[in-house]
Amino acid sequence: SWTASDIIDQQVEAIRKTVGPHQVICGLSGGVDSAVAAALVHRAVGDQLTCVFVDHGLLRKGEVEQVKHDFVQATGIKLIAIDASQDFLTALKGVTEPERKRKIIGEKFIRTFEKAARQVVAQAGEKGEEVRFLVQGTLYPDVVESGGGDGAANIKSHHNVGGLPADLGFTLVEPLRTLFKDEVRAIGTELGLPDEIVWRQPFPGPGLGIRIIGEITQARLDLLREADAIAREELTKAGLDRDIWQCPVVLLADVHSVGVQGDERTYGSPIVLRPVSSEDAMTADWSRLPYDVLSAISTRITNECRGVNRVVLDVTSKPPATIEWE
Ligand code: XMP
Repeated sequence: SWTASDIIDQQVEAIRKTVGPHQVICGLSGGVDSAVAAALVHRAVGDQLTCVFVDHGLLRKGEVEQVKHDFVQATGIKLIAIDASQDFLTALKGVTEPERKRKIIGEKFIRTFEKAARQVVAQAGEKGEEVRFLVQGTLYPDVVESGGGDGAANIKSHHNVGGLPADLGFTLVEPLRTLFKDEVRAIGTELGLPDEIVWRQPFPGPGLGIRIIGEITQARLDLLREADAIAREELTKAGLDRDIWQCPVVLLADVHSVGVQGDERTYGSPIVLRPVSSEDAMTADWSRLPYDVLSAISTRITNECRGVNRVVLDVTSKPPATIEWE
């Protein structure tokens, strides 16, 4: 049976062997996987590592600040933050098909990492050399769902696996590629990461982009970001954060239904709540949330999010549905 410290020792040695004396960058998403991958690589090669946090404009409320503060404070790892939101939004204009969204986001991530790599080289001055290695927090389930497992079908292209461009200019370092989330959390704790990072609920790399069903626009992102913040706030207030695996909040942007608010007819879009419980995200069940929590979320979202006049609950397990809608 494995222990977290055995895996850490093994991986640290493997990473040192692969990377040698070279510079490495790590794409940080704010989630537990990339944070643990970064902490492992940092233990292995120290200052040769620079983390890159890309703000693709598809993040949730407060996420940029959280990563900048929490992660850097906890680990002391060098961090470059890049605001690429306009770039991503432009590339995604008019796109509605889920796999195309995923491929575009995956490619844009890499192009942004390349930009960051040039920045790392420039900052190193004369002794600066090319950055050859990119660390990713890819887990075993990401590989399987992207069709990388033994004979597995492509269910959806996770941004850091099936969504990668063909002309990838980096060698990938993926120390978590054979692991499941619970193992990754154990390793994170063993490496001294704080609970706020280790126990964060999963959030997909493509972010809110795959939770807007339809075209991604700034206005729709703003709306969904608000609804998501409300749902998270109420779930936290009810003390349910560790009971559920995650709760995607989805905007059915092209669906409209009739409502009434203050004597006025409304014609707005529904928000879907998708609370799930799961062990490893390979299968999941819908969470039986208390009615009063659902009610509080619904009331607040319809009151506070202009353009949303209905909140619905997704009561499907995985399979046959997946956790995310796209
Ligand atoms: P699905 O929707 O496939 O999701 O049931 C399983 C778990 O993976 C997360 N997810 C992703 N994570 N990049 C990620 O880093 C992705 O492209 C991606 N797609 C889905 C999802 O939130 C759930 O926890």
